[in-house]
Amino acid sequence: MKSKASKFTKFARKVAAEGAVLLKNNSNFLPLAKDEKVAVFGRCQADYYRSGTGSGGAVNVEYKTDLINSLAARNFVTIDTHIKHLYDTWLAQNPFDDGGGGWACEPWCQIEMPLEASAVEAAANQNDKAIVVIGRTAGEDKDNMAAEGSYFLTAAEIEMLNVVKTNFAKVGVIVNVGNIIDMSWVDDKIDMVIYSWHGGMEGGNAIVDVLVGDLTPSGKLPDSIATTIDDYPSTKNHGSATQNFYEEDIYVGYRYLETFAADRVLYPFGFGLSYTQFTISNVTGTIHAGTAKITATVTNVGDAYAGREVVQVYLQAPQGQLGKPTRSLVGFAKTPLLAPHESTVVKISIPFYSMASYDDSGATGHKSAYVLEAGEYIFHVGNSVRETVIAVFDTSLVLDSTKIVAQLEEALAPTTSFNRIRPDASGNVAYEAAPTRTVDLAARMTAMAPQAIAITGDAGINLKNVITESDMEKFIAQLTADDLAAIVRGEGMSHPQVTPGTASAFGGVTTHLRDDLGIPLMCAADGPSGIRMESGRTATQLPIGTLIASTWDEALVEELYTMEGEELKNNYVDVLLGPGLNIHRSPLNGRNFEYFSEDPLLTGKMAAAVVRGVHQGGAEGTLKHFACNSQETHRHEVNAVVSERAVREIYLKGFEIAIKEGNAKSVMTAYNPLNGIWTASNYDLNTTILRGEWGFDGIVMTDWWAKMNDCIDGGEGTRQNVSSMVRAQNDLYMVVGNFGAGSNISQDNIPEDLASGKLSIAQLQRSAKNICKFAQATVAITRDELIFGKPQPLVAQDISTEGLEIVTTELSFTGKTHTFAFANEGSYQLDATFNCSMPGLSQTSCNVYINGNLVTTIQSGNTSGESVTRQLANLDLHPGAYTITCEGVNPTFVIDKFTFTKL
Ligand code: BGC
Repeated sequence: MKSKASKFTKFARKVAAEGAVLLKNNSNFLPLAKDEKVAVFGRCQADYYRSGTGSGGAVNVEYKTDLINSLAARNFVTIDTHIKHLYDTWLAQNPFDDGGGGWACEPWCQIEMPLEASAVEAAANQNDKAIVVIGRTAGEDKDNMAAEGSYFLTAAEIEMLNVVKTNFAKVGVIVNVGNIIDMSWVDDKIDMVIYSWHGGMEGGNAIVDVLVGDLTPSGKLPDSIATTIDDYPSTKNHGSATQNFYEEDIYVGYRYLETFAADRVLYPFGFGLSYTQFTISNVTGTIHAGTAKITATVTNVGDAYAGREVVQVYLQAPQGQLGKPTRSLVGFAKTPLLAPHESTVVKISIPFYSMASYDDSGATGHKSAYVLEAGEYIFHVGNSVRETVIAVFDTSLVLDSTKIVAQLEEALAPTTSFNRIRPDASGNVAYEAAPTRTVDLAARMTAMAPQAIAITGDAGINLKNVITESDMEKFIAQLTADDLAAIVRGEGMSHPQVTPGTASAFGGVTTHLRDDLGIPLMCAADGPSGIRMESGRTATQLPIGTLIASTWDEALVEELYTMEGEELKNNYVDVLLGPGLNIHRSPLNGRNFEYFSEDPLLTGKMAAAVVRGVHQGGAEGTLKHFACNSQETHRHEVNAVVSERAVREIYLKGFEIAIKEGNAKSVMTAYNPLNGIWTASNYDLNTTILRGEWGFDGIVMTDWWAKMNDCIDGGEGTRQNVSSMVRAQNDLYMVVGNFGAGSNISQDNIPEDLASGKLSIAQLQRSAKNICKFAQATVAITRDELIFGKPQPLVAQDISTEGLEIVTTELSFTGKTHTFAFANEGSYQLDATFNCSMPGLSQTSCNVYINGNLVTTIQSGNTSGESVTRQLANLDLHPGAYTITCEGVNPTFVIDKFTFTKL
């Protein structure tokens, strides 16, 4: 395994190690001692997962690391070579099953090698310790399942654990997962359990750093681990096809478990062990100017190891009229590395706004306001939601009456009646009706309608010279209705004029917008954990979101993503499609690995750190998926039915924090409807709250090929209702397969709705302005010309053209490769006509080579068997022989023909 560590990969390794969460460490199983003898079991020791699957996992890497080879290379412990050899041999015959390599095909787990009891017994006689590795994946379009091989261990894994436990006196387990799994199998015979998560390309080295004690673990759980999957209140509604009722309301994760079912917790939220011990003492607080300030002294009271601790502050608010969880995380801080017996003082500021509850019913007398209800506010400070002490305040925070912290207006309330959980007087689960929408959306939109700018046509103003607001108005005035329609259509995937194999190009999508008006063509690429370039170009693959959140270290995450921003800039990618920050509402969500936590504050702080970092590095991050995309199953259709209080306090909170504290400039809406209106055409989401309340002034894009319905009347969702998207102020439709022509290739309803007056020029101008302002702040505005898309010179093959098919304009194509004679000389535009039948909105790609040179990557979603034509590249050709080869993974991706058009 080759390993070319750069400054960036070294730092990614550090972060991956900092995020490992040690759940059990009896008899100091870890760290391993020098020259200790260790046998390692479980195929994932070599097939060590780097990431979950789907768009967030598709980073091509120059090298990867795994556990067993990293451990062997470290030369610290003595590995049982016989057991290693058994695995090596068996893995050669039972290679990693990627399910055929297609979208969402990879299974959640791999078959396990059966263990012969005699071999394990022999190993037990020769080794001090056994380490078992359990691995899992899941991802986009593929939720976890409450089934063996996904959330639960398989029979073979249980068998493996049993035989190891029977023979070895000391057993530890490494859990190499993207998401928490059932942990009921941990018993007295297992001394050590560590969640190493998916650590990206350096994950193998990182976990070894922890095992051998180069780094003392300091990760803390970003999710509660309950006794059974049914202990999570969202489980029963997860996966429904049409409506997912968020009946647990604000009681997500530990908010539910600590309030109603404390005895159902195996490992509490915020928990994680170290090799050393800490005390948190002198916990005091003051209240000043609408902020609670907590001070605590943290001391490393151990003798042997330096380590870091996370101080967490949980609020216990009075139950009042609204009902409250018994604990809500309101602040945290991670200490620097503390040597044995070293102390530090941490200070945590908690503004009242982050302590307040949203009254969506008017129960407190203040409907649509964030309030602090009358009563006593108690701050519990510790190193998990369970291990806390009460902060001593100079004057305790007792309110005589309800205090309004922010008066807002009703937005996003559900239209369907349903019951939600709230505590009864004895603190047990009770239900109440969630308040439904009372606002007249049409009236709100009319009252807030933007003013049109009179169209002037070209006035010679270039975006680069636009400085003032009045310049911007004059600039936008130049855009015709056609220009405005073109600019809200993002193009992709794999646009030939931006970094090959990326998700979209947007902004200056026509020659006129780009060359005459100076709007740069910007490039967006997945994310979140490294750059996805389907061309095969490699990038640094980072630890997943859940691991990042487990570090509880904002500064570390910001530094990591500053390097990511630099890598984006170096690859001419202006926008990263990440961070993903949907709430871990259920452990069954397949994309939890991309997201951070069940807690909105931890989520928001991490997302803000990512966005700040990416910006410093020279690109912009995108907060996705806005909002309530809590399941992958039926993700394009399932309506999230959520109370306004839960939307605001739980599901939007992370976005709000990332915008206010991270200055995020780009947001991606989700696939699903939220309370009846698809998020991409949801006015309250994209305008009332996002821009009106939070002051967001960046761009909003849809998820890829998203649906929209009417932003007032709701109804059915379609991909053509782009007009409704613009009316809601979601600025960009992602994506249309129209490369530069500016035509309405996907037949959206912009022209029709403009003609009928349903969509106004002013609404289009508003989005155009958002896009142009965004462009001004990117590195792209400084580029004088396109980096990609120039005609590529190709030299004909040095072979005879005799007997070859002579091509002038069209080449019919079957199979994978063709050698033909090109008849003419000059610059040509190469187009491909292809079709692809895959489930839903699966994505696939295919690289096209001519004479061995990569000319382009064709990336596509499902075309439902219909043939589509895509512009690929511009080529300089000479008469002679050429071989065109197409390498893709999906067998249903069929190229019918290539067309050469003279430029
Ligand atoms: C995903 C997005 C991703 C986009 C582009 C969609 O399928 O949901 O998160 O950014 O594709 O790859």
